[in-house]
Amino acid sequence: MTWERFTNHHLSINELDFALDISRMNFSDDFFKEMEPLMQSAYNSMEELEAGAIANPDEGRMVGHYWLRNPTLAPEVEQTAEIEKCLRQIKNISSDIHNGVITGSKGTFKNCLIIGIGGSALGPQFVADALGRPKSDRMKLYFFDNTDPDGIDRTLASLDGELGMTLAIVISKSGGTAETRNGMLEAQAAYKSEGLKFSEHAIAITGEASKLDQVAKEDGWITRLPMWDWVGGRTSELAAVGLLPAALQGLDIDRILSGAAAMDIATRARETKKNPAALLSLMWYHSTKAKGAKDMVVLPYKDRLMLFSKYLQQLVMESLGKAIDLNGKVVHQGISVYGNKGSTDQHAYVQQLREGVHNFFVTFIEVLKDREGESIEVDSGATSGDFLQGFFLGTRDALYENGRESITITIGEVTPEAVGQLIALFERAVGLYASLININAYHQPGVEAGKKAAAVVLEIEQRVIAHLKESAAVRIDCTTIAKNLSLESQAELIFKLLNRLVRNNRNIHTELRSPHHLSLYYYE
Ligand code: PA5
Repeated sequence: MTWERFTNHHLSINELDFALDISRMNFSDDFFKEMEPLMQSAYNSMEELEAGAIANPDEGRMVGHYWLRNPTLAPEVEQTAEIEKCLRQIKNISSDIHNGVITGSKGTFKNCLIIGIGGSALGPQFVADALGRPKSDRMKLYFFDNTDPDGIDRTLASLDGELGMTLAIVISKSGGTAETRNGMLEAQAAYKSEGLKFSEHAIAITGEASKLDQVAKEDGWITRLPMWDWVGGRTSELAAVGLLPAALQGLDIDRILSGAAAMDIATRARETKKNPAALLSLMWYHSTKAKGAKDMVVLPYKDRLMLFSKYLQQLVMESLGKAIDLNGKVVHQGISVYGNKGSTDQHAYVQQLREGVHNFFVTFIEVLKDREGESIEVDSGATSGDFLQGFFLGTRDALYENGRESITITIGEVTPEAVGQLIALFERAVGLYASLININAYHQPGVEAGKKAAAVVLEIEQRVIAHLKESAAVRIDCTTIAKNLSLESQAELIFKLLNRLVRNNRNIHTELRSPHHLSLYYYE
């Protein structure tokens, strides 16, 4: 790496305490020039999107997450008013809860149980972990982000005896997501078993008139906050979805919003070399050959940012992983994202990055400030933070020497502003990259297809149970059940369903639990 290449391709934005270094990506000297026409058209699309164009054509929706941190940008005055009203509501509710104006049955709320999945959980989880300070947080956050009964029990065990001081926030844009609905029903049952009224401990964040909205309205929950159709799930962290949990935790949501707004300004620049989101999107284009040929490994050298890779995994993969482009051409696009944190991962998969299959580029995140307060010396003249940076720089060099490309993002420290900036930076990078490769980043047909497929499985399960029940104690094998139900092609599925039911006290039994014609099932 020459000093000249480094200085040519290192963008510092001092007022944001932020820098981006792309010098270790091996693009050619002409790359920027060649890409400029496409880049200019991506900026045009982004301008149209921010001005309220239907940027999600499949769902006929505007895409308005940029308005959340600058409500006056919204194309309709009603939208501006709604965003501002929602922000006021978030602050008022949080302050009423903190000050004991709104309480649980057993006193001041001290915990929040957030029930949501995907875009309705990953952002709140990331922000809570990045900015939380156990000693000073106003409330502690817990999550149901799945329909795993044991996972639910584990979380409930942590809240044992405290549900009367636990605020449940049920988050679902559609208001019909099965995992979230189940989580809500499980929570309701848990509150009831402690003699508590769930409605007095619950807030809903959802689309107007959704199923969840109706339940919350009919049962008289504490309040309901909106989730507008022009905000996508994975870009909803700066809507009530992320802001209410953050405010309740005691985080300064105005600072998070102002960080995002400042990054929005920086990433609206049409001069590509000065626009960090544009640079990121171009590097993705270069490294993955515009078709996801390489994976993005996200490696923050800071424990607080560990969940950022998980958050980005959804933002990037759900937005970019698409079968067809905007012209209807089959493209099978996407970029795989994984990561955790350095230096921990150096003792896990970095061995392969350094020497194994060369199918990735790395996005390092460097944080300059080590910790609050002084550090001890762990070696003569060296602190733990010196070691952390040593491992980061050493790994980066080792990878580069082996031809492995990397991008480095540097932030001063993990502040609310920096977290807002990172969210806004990647939201726009995804949007710009989607324009470069001509796909709709704002729908998720694959997620919807998965939901439908699960519904089919659940329906078959009910039929199998009913069939065994009707057959009383008669012993039947999977292929016969499949034939009897006219589901000849589903014998394997029926085996998988029965194999689990047998283990879960559902009155279904077998003597031999293997996919074999001698495995006979009966209901008793
Ligand atoms: O980003 C998305 O749109 C999805 O990941 C959703 O957030 C997820 O499926 C949950 O949907 P909902 O908020 O409607 O329950």
